[in-house]
Amino acid sequence: MTFAEQLAGYVARVESGLDAHLPGAAERPARLHEAMRYAVQGGGKRLRPVLTLAAADLFSRNDADALPAGRADALPAAVALECVHTYSLVHDDLPCMDDDDLRRGRATTHKAFDEATALLTGDALLTHAFVLLTGAYAGQPTLAHALCRELADAAGSHRLIGGQMADLQAEKKADATAEELDFIHLNKTAAMLEASLVMGGLVGGANEDDLSFLRLAGRHLGLAFQIVDDVLDATADSVTLGKTAGKDAKADKTTYVKLHGIDRARRLAAEETEKSVAALQSLTGDATFLTTLVRELCTRGK
Ligand code: IPE
Ligand code: IPE
Ligand code: MG
Ligand code: MG
Ligand code: MG
Repeated sequence: MTFAEQLAGYVARVESGLDAHLPGAAERPARLHEAMRYAVQGGGKRLRPVLTLAAADLFSRNDADALPAGRADALPAAVALECVHTYSLVHDDLPCMDDDDLRRGRATTHKAFDEATALLTGDALLTHAFVLLTGAYAGQPTLAHALCRELADAAGSHRLIGGQMADLQAEKKADATAEELDFIHLNKTAAMLEASLVMGGLVGGANEDDLSFLRLAGRHLGLAFQIVDDVLDATADSVTLGKTAGKDAKADKTTYVKLHGIDRARRLAAEETEKSVAALQSLTGDATFLTTLVRELCTRGK
């Protein structure tokens, strides 16, 4: 199987998992459940859930239809990650945050519905992630606990939300430092990528060493990924991105592009990518797919 076929297979599993695990659009109150599905099912690269499925497969090959005896299915964990990620995007786009009208190629949730509905949609997606984890892994309480803890830590005030707070505080700040920018990237972006790989490892039964390598790979991937996101914001167009280009400069965000310029930002992204690859190559399993994925992300949009 080629890399592209493998990726398409993982994305297809994620799409069907999302459909199966989100509340039905007609469930009461329908407006809220419709908005949850609108936000989640409107496209997106599905990077985080793909990382989870692929990381789980490193430790026990899994054909989805035929899970090795005793191995849990990583799909509910993957869906939980996409729910938390999507909630973070819905809130990120709100007028009080980045004030964006376009996401994943269509109107942001607060534009398609209204602000209050978008706020509640984000709240509901975040909560739903934990409903899924506690429900789907109830038969393996140690695993369920580890997954909930990992996701809660990644999404909490020291990590994703803390990074978003620092990102807003760094707007229009002329003297922001590289250290402050690293804090923002490590938390608003890398935390969820670390959790995606680690949660896959947990489901797959990875040992402590492999979990540490997965965390390290996620950390460097996260830094690379946000640098590339910042470069694309400055260089790509809205149609290609599916979100409004040029927003960071307009809001005078503290980004790698602002601090280092585009060329140096690209070089730093390549360096972080290779650090992520080195961590992946230290893993026990065959990380060919993940290595290719991480490298492709660095050159996306080029
Ligand atoms: C956007 O994430 C937010 C960042 C952390 C840069 P993605 O670029 O993964 O967005 P989707 O999920 O593909 O829409
Ligand atoms: C957001 O970073 C990261 C999140 C945690 C949502 P950005 O604000 O740069 O993400 P985009 O460019 O709107 O997707
Ligand atoms: Mg933002
Ligand atoms: Mg934004
Ligand atoms: Mg951005």
